[in-house]
Amino acid sequence: MNLQTHFDRTIEKDQRIEPRDWMPDAYRATLVRMIAQHAHSEIIGMQPEGNWITRAPSLRRKAILLAKVQDEAGHGLYLYSAAETLGADRDELVEKLIAGKQKYSSIFNYPTLTFADVGVIGWLVDGAAICNQVPLCRSSYGPYARAMIRICKEESFHQRQGYELLMTMMKGTEEQRRMVQDATNRWWWPSLMMFGPPDAESAHTERSMAWKIKRHTNDELRQKFVDMTVPQAEALGVTLPDPQLRWNAERGHYDFGEIDWAEFKRVISGNGPCNAQRLARRRAAHDNGAWVREAAAAHAAKRAERTVAA
Ligand SMILES: [Fe+2]
Ligand SMILES: [Fe+2]
Repeated sequence: MNLQTHFDRTIEKDQRIEPRDWMPDAYRATLVRMIAQHAHSEIIGMQPEGNWITRAPSLRRKAILLAKVQDEAGHGLYLYSAAETLGADRDELVEKLIAGKQKYSSIFNYPTLTFADVGVIGWLVDGAAICNQVPLCRSSYGPYARAMIRICKEESFHQRQGYELLMTMMKGTEEQRRMVQDATNRWWWPSLMMFGPPDAESAHTERSMAWKIKRHTNDELRQKFVDMTVPQAEALGVTLPDPQLRWNAERGHYDFGEIDWAEFKRVISGNGPCNAQRLARRRAAHDNGAWVREAAAAHAAKRAERTVAA
């Protein structure tokens, strides 16, 4: 059987493609692009909330937030490792990120103005990430799918800690309730943009679906997120900032208003409120960490030498 046929049959039978299997170059390139973008998002995504670690209002909140931000670093590490199984070079990917040559999720270019943002990010941003990522646990590329299983478990903790924080704030003072509503107003639309451009304009969706890398289209996932989130907003007692949001019994889904795609394009192309700051921080952290990487590499080389000698 030729290699292409074997690959096609593996996909068709819903089996996994593994690193040593033959795969079309375009399949490999698509995965490297997707996984790198995902890894970068996890790492850059540490910044908006990391901003509040030193100002968390209690020891308990600080411990939760620290654990969450650390998880995101871990997600980045699993994903860079998954990209390496495809032959990508991790240093190269990181260089591309800090040179602004590779994308990360547009959502992390918005500022976190109050502590309520920590709760709303957990609820909406991690909630949207879960919608996106649960189907990726069945992605056709084995290492990516397996990384996603653990990531999704942790994302679900992220979503809950956010929602629990908001519940607590909503039971607090009038001022706290105002903070939650204000953060919801600012994060709702950018969260909907996390699912990417509408299907009609999505360059990669069709092929990624045929390869079973992706299992649902951007618009399907976005709808699922809206349907899931509206009842949560009601339980919380906040208003989602969309006057057109209403239940459509005929469709069995919530209708919602038009997303500002011009804003999405502006932010994704580098001109959002915090893009420059996010990349500058990442670059500085990378430079400051150079000695750690050098020391770790020297240590590993010494150990390898000793093993050979022994
Ligand atoms: Fe994550
Ligand atoms: Fe998360």
